[in-house]
Amino acid sequence: MVYELSNPVTKTLITHLRDQKSDALRFRHIVAELTKQLMYEALKEQTLVQKSIVTWQGEGKYDTIDEENIIVATVLRAGMPMLESAINLLVGATAGFLAMKRDEVTHKSVLYYDRLPDCKGKTVILVDPMVATGGSMMDAIELIKSREPLKIITLNIIGSPEGLEKVSTAYPEVDIFIAQIDVRLNGDKFIIPGLGDAGDRSYNTVE
Ligand code: PRP
Repeated sequence: MVYELSNPVTKTLITHLRDQKSDALRFRHIVAELTKQLMYEALKEQTLVQKSIVTWQGEGKYDTIDEENIIVATVLRAGMPMLESAINLLVGATAGFLAMKRDEVTHKSVLYYDRLPDCKGKTVILVDPMVATGGSMMDAIELIKSREPLKIITLNIIGSPEGLEKVSTAYPEVDIFIAQIDVRLNGDKFIIPGLGDAGDRSYNTVE
């Protein structure tokens, strides 16, 4: 299922992201803020557990998300500001990193870096700002699924209807939380109107 944020603050931040005047620092900052909004939405029905802690009044049990069973994972590199933001919010969660590249002959993605912790029985929150064709998300989901998590949730900033349809049809069990569903993909597989390449805009590698 795909859930799109509708808050006017979200729309305003997306417009700042589209604005070419937003430099890399501002771009990453806004991506981080949008990630927090997505986290609140994605986890609003999360079951709370009781945790024993020592407070100024002595030991007691208090509500908490079971952070130790949550992994926030990203595929390098555009997802990095999202990952930082998400683990700043869930300070007890574990971070996981993947890097894949597409083989230009076979068009299959090849995993070349894998620091995903043990996912078995855990909730994996996969963060990636863009869903264009949906290919990267599907490759990452497929890989994470093979590690037997309890559940996979994705957080995305912007996506095309085509890419989102592809991912949600292939993985109906995955909940997709996205800040903005845009109009379409163009012939070069860019999101229209979109915001350019999130990795390049975040890390000042725009040619
Ligand atoms: C971007 C983005 C997604 C992917 C989306 O990454 O972060 O991972 O493209 O495209 P898709 O839906 O058609 O697969 P990119 O490959 O540009 O790498 P980067 O993060 O290093 O910029």
